[in-house]
Amino acid sequence: MSKNQRTYRAPRGIRDLLPEDVALAERMERIAASLATRRGFREIRPALLEETALFKRSVGEVTDIVEKEMFSFERGKTHLSLRPEGTAGIVRAYIEAGYPRNRPIQRFFHIGPMFRYERPQKGRERMFTQFDVEALGSMDPRLDAEVIQLAALFFESLGIDEIEVRINSMGDGDDRDRYRDAVRAFLAPSMEAHCDLCRSRFERNVLRVLDCKNPSCRELHAGAPAIVDFLSPENEAHFAAVRSSLERLGRKTVLDSGLVRGLDYYTRTVFELHHPPLGVRSALCGGGRYDHLVRDLGGPDLGAVGFAIGFTPTLLALEELGILDRPAIRPAADCFLVAAGEGLDEEVFVLAEELRSRGVSVVFDVEGKSLKSQMKTANAGGFRFALVLGESELERGVVQLKDLPAREQHEIAREELADRILEALAVPS
Ligand code: HAM
Repeated sequence: MSKNQRTYRAPRGIRDLLPEDVALAERMERIAASLATRRGFREIRPALLEETALFKRSVGEVTDIVEKEMFSFERGKTHLSLRPEGTAGIVRAYIEAGYPRNRPIQRFFHIGPMFRYERPQKGRERMFTQFDVEALGSMDPRLDAEVIQLAALFFESLGIDEIEVRINSMGDGDDRDRYRDAVRAFLAPSMEAHCDLCRSRFERNVLRVLDCKNPSCRELHAGAPAIVDFLSPENEAHFAAVRSSLERLGRKTVLDSGLVRGLDYYTRTVFELHHPPLGVRSALCGGGRYDHLVRDLGGPDLGAVGFAIGFTPTLLALEELGILDRPAIRPAADCFLVAAGEGLDEEVFVLAEELRSRGVSVVFDVEGKSLKSQMKTANAGGFRFALVLGESELERGVVQLKDLPAREQHEIAREELADRILEALAVPS
């Protein structure tokens, strides 16, 4: 390396997915998309960048995400942030596109990167993929059950059976106000013993005090009031309906009255899916209802419910269970085209494009290797076929087709070559 050169690494907490990793990601994406589309969810690909104000209004000004974790910057007069989560942008897009007026019931799903400036640690990254599912436009409790079931099936399809569905209701309107008052009354006497952040949150958004990760603060929260004790009959009935719909499917839920979630938009049902052996970082999925977010972002007052699953925590669970079976790495192409002799570079190049235009995947040597070492590359690279083109083959309009695993060789007329290869590939080997 010369004096002025340096090497570069991905920023802390940010990881590349190399071709070797993509096969595994694709498997998760396929399962996610198949479960979602079977239930009428259609893929949406919202913006990666949004106005910072959108997240302040939706996720909430006094939350860890907005206070500490956003990648934000200014361009001209616009304050922008890389999306830390998907719900806000999806709801913004839903309203902007006019769905609430024309076709309010929409089921969307999205798989894509999110960005949070968190302390990188096992399972927590600064850029991570979420599988996001949002059912918009309805208050029907069966939708809460439907999305929870979808999330659980995602893990089960991957082989993660030990999934705990923790569920709670955050209430809404009056019952939430009464709960907030009760939490305030409960915390007030011990506020002096809390950390600075808790003290400031106590004034600004008292429920967020309960999110504090500080062990000494957490001790002070033991015995805090539980929201389920404050629910109105209507919200209680909604919660009971969600749980009973899940029971009808044989899906057990665990009531977790301490579950409040770290985002402000939730109302009524909230839930998390955990893989308990992962310990403190066991949450693979989080979600819930957000019945006023559409209204808060400028649309009509419509109900909605959804969740997001983190792919990295899911991989950790697979690893912990010892079932992280990476799909076999596939060779770059089916055929390796070998130039048998000097001066055939252009001919090989043209034949490769000819085959590609007929649907065959093929690569050729670009290192000027000898015939022998090209054959070695073909064998070591896991290619199915080596195609050998020499001066004599060129003159006679043929190519040697070597089936590498079968150790068979046939001379094939050039115009028949593509069909022969495709036929052979269609038969499972
Ligand atoms: P969340 O609980 O913040 O909810 O994130 C959902 C899931 O994303 C977590 O359970 C975890 O698996 C994964 N996750 C979160 N942060 C990270 C990180 N730094 N690294 C790796 N994985 C992470 C939401 O984002 C809501 N938008 C979910 C939702 C959708 N609610 C309603 N609709």
